[in-house]
Amino acid sequence: MGVVTFLSAKGSPGVTTTALLATALWPRPALLLEADPAGGDVAARVLAADGGLLDTSRGLLPLLTAARRGLDAASVVEQAQPVAGGSRVVLGLSGPEQAAAAGRGWAALAAAVAELSGPSAADGDLRSTDVLVDAGRVGAAPVHLDLLRASDCVVLLVRADVAAVLHARDRLRLLGGALRRRDGLLPRTGVVVVGDPGRRAGEAASAVEALRAVGPWVDDLGRLPHDPAGAGVFAGAPVSRPERTALVRAGRTVVDDLVAGLPVAPPAAAAATDQESAA
Ligand SMILES: Nc1ncnc2c1ncn2[C@@H]1O[C@H](COP(=O)(O)OP(=O)(O)OP(=O)(O)O)[C@@H](O)[C@H]1O
Ligand SMILES: [Mg+2]
Repeated sequence: MGVVTFLSAKGSPGVTTTALLATALWPRPALLLEADPAGGDVAARVLAADGGLLDTSRGLLPLLTAARRGLDAASVVEQAQPVAGGSRVVLGLSGPEQAAAAGRGWAALAAAVAELSGPSAADGDLRSTDVLVDAGRVGAAPVHLDLLRASDCVVLLVRADVAAVLHARDRLRLLGGALRRRDGLLPRTGVVVVGDPGRRAGEAASAVEALRAVGPWVDDLGRLPHDPAGAGVFAGAPVSRPERTALVRAGRTVVDDLVAGLPVAPPAAAAATDQESAA
């Protein structure tokens, strides 16, 4: 199980759509954490599992507010709500003022999220889950850097056009230094290029080449098509046969690769034995 974080640079919208797409297709228990410092919009796009509206009094704000007293995996689960399809979501903030006010709360959140996706959470209601994070557009000094650093995989979405690729390249350079942990290692970090798969396939290939030139640690994590119909599924639009849209079909390949790159959860009994022997 693990933490997969989606983010973008200037010129490449689509983070929330892709995070929702990945959550809908995720083959294991998944929790979507809406952690875009600019504010969330999942509540306006997605219905609760019972077909009603999501409860906007629950989510990231109560979590970050409580962070001074300490957070654990259970605190995150308390703020999560079930959505259609079987996964859960922690709704985001209202805007950047709340994100800035959270200060060190982001570090406590990062630790709680890592706990939730790790083997020690593997019992009862706190069963280990993959956590998918919508981290929004990342600037030069991300307030939620601790959360990004706690990820097992960081996915930068990039539109296949020159300006977007240049912004993404700058962002990757920043992340290459900022995401390095105390052990010197980086989370798996890579790019998903969004573009027209037919006519402009060459553009996507050159975008990946330019971005991988930043360093050998930049992975090619796949392609998604520019597909307004498919994107509409994740914007609350009525779309018939969503599973047949180009976006959803391509999303399966991207998700399979992301899941394959994550740590495997040990069986609950083995996790308990590990903890006992460590104690
Ligand atoms: N692959 C795609 N193909 C076509 N349209 C897309 C795709 N992904 C996203 N969109 C559209 O682009 C717009 C922005 O998408 P989205 O809200 O996911 O971006 P974002 O990066 O989360 O933006 P924000 O910074 O506002 O949070 C939406 O209208 C969405 O439907
Ligand atoms: Mg968004």
